[in-house]
Parts: sequence; structure tokens; C-alpha cells
Amino acid sequence: MLILGIETSCDETASAVVEDGKKILSNIVASQMDIHSKYGGVVPELASRRHIQNIIPVIQQSLETAGISLDDVDGIAVTQGPGLIGSLLIGISTAKALSYTKNLPIVGVNHIEGHIYSNFLENDDIKPPFICLVVSGGHTDLVYVGEGKRNYEKLGQTMDDAAGEAFDKVSKLLELGYPGGPIIDRLAKEGNPKAIAFPRPYVWDHDFNFSFSGLKTSVLNYLLKEKSEGRIINVADVSASFQSAVVDVLVEKTLRSAQTKGINTVAVAGGVAANSGLRKRFMERCQEMGYKLYFPRPILCTDNAAMIAGIGYHLLKDNESNNSYNMTLESDAIKEFL
Ligand code: KG4
Ligand code: ZN
Repeated sequence: MLILGIETSCDETASAVVEDGKKILSNIVASQMDIHSKYGGVVPELASRRHIQNIIPVIQQSLETAGISLDDVDGIAVTQGPGLIGSLLIGISTAKALSYTKNLPIVGVNHIEGHIYSNFLENDDIKPPFICLVVSGGHTDLVYVGEGKRNYEKLGQTMDDAAGEAFDKVSKLLELGYPGGPIIDRLAKEGNPKAIAFPRPYVWDHDFNFSFSGLKTSVLNYLLKEKSEGRIINVADVSASFQSAVVDVLVEKTLRSAQTKGINTVAVAGGVAANSGLRKRFMERCQEMGYKLYFPRPILCTDNAAMIAGIGYHLLKDNESNNSYNMTLESDAIKEFL
């Protein structure tokens, strides 16, 4: 079964063709970094307008790269939420138009479930139960993925900023550009992670929730103090110290949730899963604990449509409409459009 995936939940216009939920025949992502970077974050109205321009060429390219035409496609999977409503609507309207004209089945996919699924796309041997840390620009969720079909339990989430959002906001404070994650990741390699003792919010708390807004404020206070005392900011040290604080919290909480659940397999997904410091620390700690660890490659960590087509295949095959992801859907309103 060939599934055409469409993803427009934020600022990436993406389309992919995936065979049988596994083999990626194409995975096209058109970034909008150029228009949003000067604002230090995504401007929703600009994102929607750019999706309108990009969506058809991106879909065409995904079909061409896969070496197929729309007539070869067996079904369409499109991100239904969570995400920016205007952005989501472009993908959903396009998917619906294609489905209608070609008489193809269509299914709406939860974006977070897509991120989790990227681990199944990438790794043949991954098997539930496992703990999945989903860390993106919009979410920081600790999810228990149980045995059976699409069995999820959310163990914890951020109470304020998402991990990726914290990277983006700290990058803005340092005037480094958007998206901040990859920039801070690069600079952190040249800095000393122990230079500044930023807090590790709630790291030893008993629940599995996260909070990153206080950490971001600590960075702001540090920068203001250093500047007011006439000191030059060492951007690499700030980046390394901030990243190390985020990584500590994410890794330790994830491992503790695995311990609590008596599970020895951990997976990571979402844009922040591309972070080299996070990957390294997870590898070291999982080795120490004797845990199995799974990561998608970086292109499948950040937003893409292959993950949407992948999980969409299972939904279509099992004839499930949507909403298999039984956590709160932020964009419930979007369902009525499908
Ligand atoms: O999953 P994603 O592409 O989109 C959302 O669903 O939000 O994640 C985007 C987020 C941004 O906040 C970006 O700064 C962050 O992922 N990110 C990173 C890295 N690459 C992307 N954060 C830290 N290190 C990276 N290498
Ligand atoms: Zn995402």
C-alpha cells in the first residue's frame, strides 16, 4: 500500500510517499526558516500563506521522487493536529481535494503520534512496551507506549514552555536566530557545560512533568547581570550550560519513568531529539542502565510527512478513522473538517 503523507502543522510544508508503513520512497520538506527567522519565531499568518505557495509543488516533488503518480497512491494521511490552525487547514484542504478528485481514502493523523511513529519507521526491532520522550517546539511529553495497537498513556508533560521552545527563546535572548535548537547545539560544542550553574527544574520531583520557563528566566537574569557589570558574554559557555541543564532534566526524568514502569526500552522523538548533546547523554546513561535506546535519524526527528504516512498506513489498513492517539487533542475543532 502506497500512502501519500501531508504535514503542515507548523512552519514546514512536507509531503512523503511511504510503502506499507515502512519503506520511505520520498520525504520532501520545504522549510520556511527564511521568513520566520527575522521574527525569532513562527508567525502563524506568514506560515499559512507560505504553505499555500508550497503545498502543490512539494506534493508533486514527493510523487516524482517516489517515481509514481497520484493514480498509484492507495490512500492519503494528513496531520489533523495539534498545530497552528491556519497551517493545518492548508494541508487538510489539499488532502481532502486530492482524496475527493481521485476517490482515495483519507485519514487524519495526530502529529505527536506521528513523531512517536518515526521510531518505527527507522528501527526494525523496536517493540512496545517502551517509554517515548517527545520533545519538539510545541511539546514535551513523556509517553508510555504499551503493547498492542497504538496503546499510549501520557505520563507527563511540560507545564509551561516546551523544550524546543526554550531552545528557541534562549537563542532569541542571545540574538542567535531561529530555530534556536540547531544553533545552540552547534555553539554548545565549543563551550563549557559547567561554566554556569543553571537550575535543573523539577529534575528530582516525583511526577513526570517538566517546566522550562524558569530556566529560560535564569538565562535572562544571568545575561542582564553580566551585561550590567560590564562583562562580555561567552555565548558558547551560555549555550553549553543551558543545553546541559535541559538535557539533564530530559534524560533523568525519562529514565526514572522507565524505572518506575519497569521497562528497559527508551525512545526519543521530535525536533529536539536531533540535539547532539541529548543523544550523547541518552547513549551514555542508557548504556550504564542497560537500557535499549532508539532515536530516529535527525531528518525524521524534525517535522516531516514520512511519519504521518507511516502511521496513516496502519490507521487506513485497520479502517480506523482518526484519533487513535488517546491523549488530549489540542485541535479538536479540526476534526470537523475531515
Ligand atoms: O518537531 P519539530 O520539527 O516541530 C514541532 O513539532 O514543534 O521541532 C522543532 C523544534 C524547534 O524548537 C527547534 O529549535 C528544535 O526542535 N530543534 C532542536 C534541534 N533541532 C531542532 N533543538 C535542539 N537541538 C537541535 N539540534
Ligand atoms: Zn513536530
